[in-house]
Amino acid sequence: MSTTILAIESSCDDTSAAIIQDSYLLSNIVAGQDVHFKYGGVVPELASRAHQQNIIPVVDLAIKKANITKNDIDAIAFTRGPGLLGSLLVGTSFAKGFALANKIPLIDVNHLQGHILAHFIKEKNIEKDLPNFPFLCLLVSGGHSQLMLVKNFFDMETIGETIDDAAGEAFDKCGKIIGLPYPAGPEVDKLAADGNPQAFVFSKPKVKGYDYSFSGLKTSFLYSVRDSVAKNPNFVKENTKDLCASLQYTIIEVLMNKVRKAIKETGIKEIAVAGGVSANSGLRSALIEEGKKSKIKVHIPPFKFTTDNAAMIGITGYYKYLNSEFADLSIVPKARMPL
Ligand code: KG4
Ligand code: ZN
Repeated sequence: MSTTILAIESSCDDTSAAIIQDSYLLSNIVAGQDVHFKYGGVVPELASRAHQQNIIPVVDLAIKKANITKNDIDAIAFTRGPGLLGSLLVGTSFAKGFALANKIPLIDVNHLQGHILAHFIKEKNIEKDLPNFPFLCLLVSGGHSQLMLVKNFFDMETIGETIDDAAGEAFDKCGKIIGLPYPAGPEVDKLAADGNPQAFVFSKPKVKGYDYSFSGLKTSFLYSVRDSVAKNPNFVKENTKDLCASLQYTIIEVLMNKVRKAIKETGIKEIAVAGGVSANSGLRSALIEEGKKSKIKVHIPPFKFTTDNAAMIGITGYYKYLNSEFADLSIVPKARMPL
C-alpha cells in the first residue's frame, strides 16, 4: 500500500502545494505573488491576503496534476514556521480544516528542515544520488545562513549561523542599492556572469568558528557605491555587471571559507547546499570545484527545489508520517522556529 501526502507551503510570498507518494514527487505547484513588486520587498499583509486567494486553486491543481483524488491522501503536511505569521496562518488553517474534513492526520513541518530534506525528493525516470548520513549542509536563503551537520532525517545540528543578515538578504539589499528589483539575488547572478569579480573589493567579516556575518559587507558595498556616485553620477550604470560580479564573488568567498573549514575539521565526506541562494550559479560552481579538490561528494538540488516549494514540505512530512510524528488541531504557527 502506498503513502500519499498533500503538502502546503505558505511561509513567505509563494503559495505552494505538492503531492508526494512514497517519497516520489507527483506534483508541485507554486504560485508567486506579483503584488510586492512595486514595494521592493514582501509586504506581510498583502502576502497573507494573496495566500488566501491562491491556496484553494493551488491545492486543487496539485491534486489534479498528480492524477489522484482527495480520498487517496493519507495525511496533510504544512509549514509551521519559521516565516511570516500571517502567511503561515493561512497554510496552517487550511491544513487543519482539510485534516478535519477528510479525517486524516496533520503533520507540522519546519521550513528549514524542508529545505534540507528537499535532497531526498525522488522523481520518476530521474536517476539521483541521495545524500548519505551524516552530511554537511549549507543552508542559505533570504532569512537564513547556516551550516548544518545532518545526522539523520530528524537530527540536525547547527554548527554555524549568521549573527546578523542572511546571504540572500545581502544579495537583495545590495542589489536594491544599485536599483535592481526585489528579490535581487537572481538578477545579480545573471548580471555577474558578464562582470569582473575582481573589479571592486568589499570588506569580508571576521567571525568566530563557523558563524557568518553579512551586515558589514552590505555597509561596505553601500559606502563604496555612494562615494563613487558622488564622483561620477553614471557610476552604477557604467559598472553594474562588475559590481554584481564583485558582490557575488565576495558573498561566495565568505560562505566557502567556512565550508572549507568545516570539511577539513569534521572530516565528513558529503556536503549539500539548500535554500534560495543555492540557485546561485557561482556558489554551485564553487562547491563543485571544492568537491573535486577535497574529494568529497557535493549535492546540488535541482533549481525547482531551491526556492520555497511544497515538495520539500511533502518529503519531510512523508518521513514524519513513517515515524508517526503527528500534530493535533491545537497547533499554531510560529514565526521563529529553530531546527
Ligand atoms: O529559500 P527562499 O525562496 O526563501 C526563504 O526562505 O528565504 O530564498 C529566497 C532568497 C532571496 O534572498 C533570493 O534573492 C535568493 O534566495 N536567490 C538567489 C538566487 N535565487 C534566489 N540569490 C542568489 N542567486 C540566485 N540565483
Ligand atoms: Zn525558504
